[in-house]
Amino acid sequence: MTIDTDSPMRLPITRRSVLDPPPELAELRQRCPVAPLTYVDGHIGWLVTSYELARAVLQDNRFSSRPELRHSAVHLVLGDGQPPEEDVPGMFVGMDPPEHTRYRKLLTGELNVRRMRQLEPQIAETANMLVDQMRATGTEADLVPAFASPLPSLVICDLLGIPYAEWQTIRPVSERMLRTDSSAEEVKDCFAKIFEFLAEVVQRKKREPEDDLVSGLIALDELSDVEITAIAFQLFTAGHETTANMLALGTYTLLTHPDQLAALRADLDLTEGAVEELLRYLTVIQFGISRAALEDVELAGTTIRAGQTVTVSLPAANRDPARFTDPDVLDIRRPATGNVAFGFGVHQCVAQQLARAEMRIGFRTLFQRLPDLRLAVPAEEVPMRDGAIVYGVTALPVTW
Ligand code: HEM
Repeated sequence: MTIDTDSPMRLPITRRSVLDPPPELAELRQRCPVAPLTYVDGHIGWLVTSYELARAVLQDNRFSSRPELRHSAVHLVLGDGQPPEEDVPGMFVGMDPPEHTRYRKLLTGELNVRRMRQLEPQIAETANMLVDQMRATGTEADLVPAFASPLPSLVICDLLGIPYAEWQTIRPVSERMLRTDSSAEEVKDCFAKIFEFLAEVVQRKKREPEDDLVSGLIALDELSDVEITAIAFQLFTAGHETTANMLALGTYTLLTHPDQLAALRADLDLTEGAVEELLRYLTVIQFGISRAALEDVELAGTTIRAGQTVTVSLPAANRDPARFTDPDVLDIRRPATGNVAFGFGVHQCVAQQLARAEMRIGFRTLFQRLPDLRLAVPAEEVPMRDGAIVYGVTALPVTW
């Protein structure tokens, strides 16, 4: 394969094998790690594929996260996860420093070690409860609705202090918002409904504070109700798909790599390293993340003009042989720390410790309590989420 890197191309999105990013990305990383890219609306920007340059862009404040300045590299209703055309105070995911810094600091203060320690037994309890349910209903299940999807949702409910029964009323709306085939109008409508739901939660916590993140943010007395609602909204939406897909796709990956799974089963203390390696190897934010240049920036000899969008391919960066030896091999014993599955720089995933805990506890519970867990269908029959912003499986039939 030889890509013509003199003329702009579309973002390569077609995989040739289910667990590897499109092979064009490897060629680009080797020959042209800053390559011209055509965006959906015809805008010409850039695609960055090497580990070193990915981190350089993501830690450089001359590149902005503001959604109104960026162009979309793939044709999806949700763009890259931003709510459509809403200008709501507190939506810090789409802000730059110093506005972003203020919200981020207040939120990290609340996602502290104490709260994480408090959540871990709850995560274990939830994971065990879900496995109990699986075992009670037979010896076969689709792991997505039975385990991978509810676990992160229940954890976010615990974090925000939302009763699970209440969450179930809003769940269909949240699912509709995240579907890539929902229309822009539908997405907007879902956005409004979830926002209203969370605004009510905030009002209730103001009246009856509890030991949860929303009550903690209220107690700071630094944020308006809308800002707190917006923060809750971002946690609510960003925390589900990513972790759910890592859990399901991670399980698929281990079940299809018997040597790695045997090593993990023999020594569950390897789980922490396995989680890091799965994050690197699978990099579920498969189309990468984008930034807009606020001024002309030189990047490895290429001038990025002010106003141009740069897409950073996280999967390509995490398979860079200059950073990870034999990057296309899954090796749960390798030191995979430093990978960019959670991004890098000021926007690096604010809840990464929580996500790691969910995966560590989730995989441990599954493989410990279902020692004979295996696929219930041939691996090639497992349906993949090809066009989705967050890669994964749409169903995972398993038996034990
Ligand atoms: C395996 C699971 C996860 C992955 C792979 C993941 C990935 C990412 C990535 C790549 C970013 C950076 C986006 C950017 O730079 O534009 C990010 C940011 C973020 N993530 Fe996660 N995430 C995960 C889990 C979670 C969870 C569980 C939550 C919430 C409970 C969460 C909430 C957020 C928020 C709020 C941001 C925005 C941070 C900011 O802009 O400062 N994520 N995540």
